[in-house]
Amino acid sequence: MGRASAMTSAAQADPASAQLRNILAPAIDPCALSLNESALPPLPAVRAAMADFIGAANRYPEFLPTRLRTLVADHLEVPQENVAIGPGASGLALRLLQAAAAPGDRIVLSTPIFEGYLAFARMAGLVTVSVPLDSYGHHDLAAMAHAAQDARVVVLCRPNNPTGTLESVADVERFIGEVPTDTIVLLDEAYIEFVAATRRVDVHRLIARFPNVVVLRTFSKAYGLAGLRIGYALAAPELAELLWSLQLPFGINTGCTLAVAASYAAHAQLEQRIAHIVAERSYLSARLRAAGAYTTDSHANFVYLPAAGRSWSEIFDHSGLQVRNYPDGSVRITVDSRGSSQKVLGVVEQALNGPAGAPHGQTPPAMRGRPGPQPVGPAATRWSAPDRG
Ligand SMILES: Cc1ncc(COP(=O)(O)O)c(C=O)c1O
Repeated sequence: MGRASAMTSAAQADPASAQLRNILAPAIDPCALSLNESALPPLPAVRAAMADFIGAANRYPEFLPTRLRTLVADHLEVPQENVAIGPGASGLALRLLQAAAAPGDRIVLSTPIFEGYLAFARMAGLVTVSVPLDSYGHHDLAAMAHAAQDARVVVLCRPNNPTGTLESVADVERFIGEVPTDTIVLLDEAYIEFVAATRRVDVHRLIARFPNVVVLRTFSKAYGLAGLRIGYALAAPELAELLWSLQLPFGINTGCTLAVAASYAAHAQLEQRIAHIVAERSYLSARLRAAGAYTTDSHANFVYLPAAGRSWSEIFDHSGLQVRNYPDGSVRITVDSRGSSQKVLGVVEQALNGPAGAPHGQTPPAMRGRPGPQPVGPAATRWSAPDRG
């Protein structure tokens, strides 16, 4: 019996079960493609570890998440003094902004960016300086370095959310070299596991060379543990220690440590899941382009469709799929299974080819079968090579 049907019969038998089912329903919705989660339940070994954890949930976790810090440090082969743990990359980002910047300081963010950063900046009382992405969804690193001259923090997401684009390692290192040494560079690598190994930054070298860099990572995406809220930061000892010193006592539960240990031990299975998503991303991107819908060159577990003169939200609103719409009409869609890709393609193909489905009437012939660059940032002006990763 499937999970949903098992829960249905339980719910019919007992109102308390019905309430539990309502709470869990959004988390098991196969049409949920808006938050870049993994659609698969945790790996069997992780589930077994979590079951063990539940049996010990009457106990507090460690005072500070020292075991988890050791696990991460050993796995990445970095000294513990370079690692801090937090409740998701989000928790660490906010902690960093509150600890290392003062209200009124500037923070440089690309536009669009993972919207969490706008909230974190606001919570820390920072003044946001926005730098638009270029026409292909890439960062304008020269403009960002320029804006960073009098900023306290500059954020670079690699891959970027929502466009999935990847700046080259050389460009990133040059960019960091141009940022003042007293400006913190927050390099967000939330989706790094979906990036080809040859295109990843050598973080050991990076944090050894640049004491002002903080790399943020998460177990929410490729590891499929978004609900547990586990993230970590890698930085030179001074910044890592600042983050570690602000760790909430008893703030990371033992289940998180068990889940990470089990995930690392099941590395091969995890790699298979990642390879599946990467292959599905290529398939979906290729089919979208073939249908005439331009997508940016994504290196993450989602695809991004710029507005291109039409609002994708009008198209997806009645599709039954939950996708992430942006105010300019663009859309970000999580890559999941072949089934969800087919649903997305069905919606897009009908909108581009069927007169009834297209909100602005017939698709202009020029758009069909001709994927091309479309403005991404609000004031996009620069056109450049599509793939610089
Ligand atoms: C670029 C980026 N950074 C950070 C996060 C947040 O990650 P976490 O779940 O670890 O807080 C997300 C989540 O979507 C993201 O897209």
